[in-house]
Amino acid sequence: MEKARIIELPKFLDPRGNLSFFENSNQIPFDIKRTYWIYDVPGGEIRGSHAFKKSYEFIVALSGSFDVVLNDGEKEMKYSLNRSYYGFYVPKLLWRSIENFSTNSLALIVSSMSFDASDYIRDFDEFKSIRNEFKK
Ligand code: TYD
Repeated sequence: MEKARIIELPKFLDPRGNLSFFENSNQIPFDIKRTYWIYDVPGGEIRGSHAFKKSYEFIVALSGSFDVVLNDGEKEMKYSLNRSYYGFYVPKLLWRSIENFSTNSLALIVSSMSFDASDYIRDFDEFKSIRNEFKK
């Protein structure tokens, strides 16, 4: 089972304003099929709270900050994202929530798959049994 991890992105510091990037297959370990973003999150709201059967994601706090909370079925880990030159790689089959959004924060997420509702696992008990099957 692959591990989630923070990936530091290239950054070009410039007095005119800084620039960072990532591109297909470089910087991140999958081909990008889809991009979406989460914004205008009211204080205290939580997004996500599901796992994906097959898709991989890479999450960047383009603006502001938020926490990505991961659960592998046994333990929970929390990662705070607050710099636009760090991204968080989330492999498939990890339960993930995004919470503690700061005012005006912007979460950019790229996925290895086009949108497919059947790729979602929205029930935590079902997630745990799929994880257990996968580990066998
Ligand atoms: P969802 O991923 O369920 O958001 P969250 O887990 O944070 O509640 O997405 C919310 C809605 O948006 C859902 O009806 C599906 C739709 N959606 C798309 O159509 N395309 C996408 O790429 C995403 C991420 C969501």
